[in-house]
Amino acid sequence: MNSANLVEDFTSLVTAANPLHSSFMKRSLRSMREDTRTELTDYLIYCLSIGLSLDYLADSYNTIVNDTMMEQMFFEEHKRYRWSRFEELAHSVYFDDAYMRKYMYGLAITAFLWPNHVALHDFFIRTFPRGQKGNYLEIGPGHGYYFMQSARLGDFERLLGVDISAASVALTRDIVRHFEIEKKCRAEVVETDFLTFHEDNEKYSCIVMGEVLEHVEDPGRFLSAIAGLSSPSTHIFVTTCMNAPAVDHISLFRTGKDVEDIITSSGLRIVETCYVPYAGKTPAECERDALAVNVGYVLRKA
Ligand SMILES: C[S@@+](CC[C@H](N)C(=O)[O-])C[C@H]1O[C@@H](n2cnc3c(N)ncnc32)[C@H](O)[C@@H]1O
Repeated sequence: MNSANLVEDFTSLVTAANPLHSSFMKRSLRSMREDTRTELTDYLIYCLSIGLSLDYLADSYNTIVNDTMMEQMFFEEHKRYRWSRFEELAHSVYFDDAYMRKYMYGLAITAFLWPNHVALHDFFIRTFPRGQKGNYLEIGPGHGYYFMQSARLGDFERLLGVDISAASVALTRDIVRHFEIEKKCRAEVVETDFLTFHEDNEKYSCIVMGEVLEHVEDPGRFLSAIAGLSSPSTHIFVTTCMNAPAVDHISLFRTGKDVEDIITSSGLRIVETCYVPYAGKTPAECERDALAVNVGYVLRKA
């Protein structure tokens, strides 16, 4: 397969199976930066090199597109997410190996194709403390793409990922192995609920938690636990979303204030915010009309 056309080959497979997504895809490709295209190509090459097919990857991407659309219809009708408790969806998402793998490969690909996810990815790269030493913790690495990038951008002694899903742990371990991260530093990925995970007196120099807060019943406990694992200089990077349904979103934040109140009452303070409103809308319109907003924060222990 010719890697120069990989992105086009992938998007053709996606739109052949999902014609409703064609105009979104065309727009996305038209506005895609060259560096994003290269990264997407490299990610697809990585996936092919570990034995996945382009058909499987297109199907994975369409799974997240279609399932998110179903949840969006539910949200518009009921003004709430379908589920509010972890156990209501855990077995059909996190603990269903085949589904979770597709979901995570699909989600990784959205980081290059969905403008809101591209914006948060850019924010992550721009604010990352390059060359940072010490220990790195990532909660919910999922597909492992951010974990791999942190290993490249930082100069950590140890990287630790904690994820409740065996499939996510396997995907993160795969990417660690493939990119030979352990030649640079120790890297460990543990399968457990972050809330039951303890490392006595460990303080991390960098903690990343992308798209997890909206997946948990008690976001404040997650943020307080992060504060407990931080020193005042720890770089903390967190993303979440408002009014953005997905198969496994259970905590519904309706406004930025909903999120920021939890952050500040959890012993953390906001250093920088990246607010990505629904395309073409203002933050006030998103709040009024319950439109999806993505948000990223750089935080410090208060
Ligand atoms: C939507 S994915 C996010 C993947 C990646 N961090 C990103 O930003 O694209 C959420 C991840 O959080 C994990 N997760 C959910 N609840 C968790 C918990 N209580 N403890 C640890 N991981 C959890 C899920 O298994 C999944 O891998």
